Amino acid sequence: MTDIDLTAPSWELGEWQRALRAQFPIITAHPDLAYLDSAATAQKPQAVLDAVHAYLTTSNANAGRGTYPWANRTTALVEQARERVKRFLGDPAPEGSAVHFTSGTTEGLRTLARDWLPHFLADGDEIVVPVADHEANIAPWLEAQGQLARQGVHIRVRPMPYQRASGDYDHRALAELAGPRTRFVAVTHVHHVYGGDMNIHRVRRAVGPDAVICLDAAQSVGHQPVSVAELDVDFVVFSGHKAMALPGTGAVWARRARGPRFTPGGWAGTPNTVGIASLTAALDWLEAAGTDRIERWTVALAARLTEGLRHLDAYEILGCQTSLAAGSPVQRRRGIVTFRHHAIDSGDLGFILFSDGFMVRSDQHCQGGAGERTGSVRVSLHVHNTVEEVDRLLAVLATLG
Ligand code: ALA
Repeated sequence: MTDIDLTAPSWELGEWQRALRAQFPIITAHPDLAYLDSAATAQKPQAVLDAVHAYLTTSNANAGRGTYPWANRTTALVEQARERVKRFLGDPAPEGSAVHFTSGTTEGLRTLARDWLPHFLADGDEIVVPVADHEANIAPWLEAQGQLARQGVHIRVRPMPYQRASGDYDHRALAELAGPRTRFVAVTHVHHVYGGDMNIHRVRRAVGPDAVICLDAAQSVGHQPVSVAELDVDFVVFSGHKAMALPGTGAVWARRARGPRFTPGGWAGTPNTVGIASLTAALDWLEAAGTDRIERWTVALAARLTEGLRHLDAYEILGCQTSLAAGSPVQRRRGIVTFRHHAIDSGDLGFILFSDGFMVRSDQHCQGGAGERTGSVRVSLHVHNTVEEVDRLLAVLATLG
């Protein structure tokens, strides 16, 4: 990992951040509000709004049907967007992969579970399901198990083991449970509640070279570099709206090396062309901004918030807990910090924080049944957030101690 000053982002990074913050109209129009809910959906920079306007005012048409210029431009836009996604993900062999557009991560995972997984598995095979991750990465795999059982194919679901203190996977226990029949492993890149990077390299080592790994990258794409050349995974599924594109936009990147080819079933209908136009613009913007610098900025802010919270006795921090010492697990925390107050209900805390201008998520975060039993407040950061916002939040939280 890059050398990061975890307590105060550097001045140079500060200059860069101010220039980027100025490009978010909704942020600059509301200087008294702090948007701390980017894990739910990200705000859009002007370049994305401009691309949406330009597409709708110059080329709006259906894709893959007409032969007039607007239709041709739209068809090209969709095909070029597939290549854009591959480049953004650092795909070293784009001729050997495919990109399927969806409405978001939930639909992407559901489509894989419905249209790909049943063709891949045989009676007696095992799949690993991350039962304390987002419900969208649990329910589809259990539904696929039921669908296969109705066809007389019985597969075994193995719950992913976790390290309770940090929310990370228990890679050692995973290695013990994985065997030759473990053919498919569903994982999450960055946990949407615990905030940690889930060490996908260690997942690969634990399950061996032959298992298919499907990565829910909803909280990593757009927030940090995501390279399929480095992550030895077979599917990457993400939401465009969390990567600064419009809602209703997402993608499945599929490698063709392991298992049958992914061919989504059903009648595709009209693609979300304006969403796809916004996704291309968002990926361009993110790449120009530098996903490595976005990562450094949000990791630094999250570390500052985590450290501040650790000194406030009234709060319990979920996920990564340890100090800022170099190489400590807190370095794996990304821009998500989730906590609860010992005496104030998390829903109420969300209301209280909004009265001071902070927008956070405060519920159970759609976490799977093996996750937390009670709600919490989640702060999720992006490049427009500032050190001052984090310090102001800590000051308000301190008054509630
Ligand atoms: N999946 C999104 C979240 O975690 C909505 O908030």
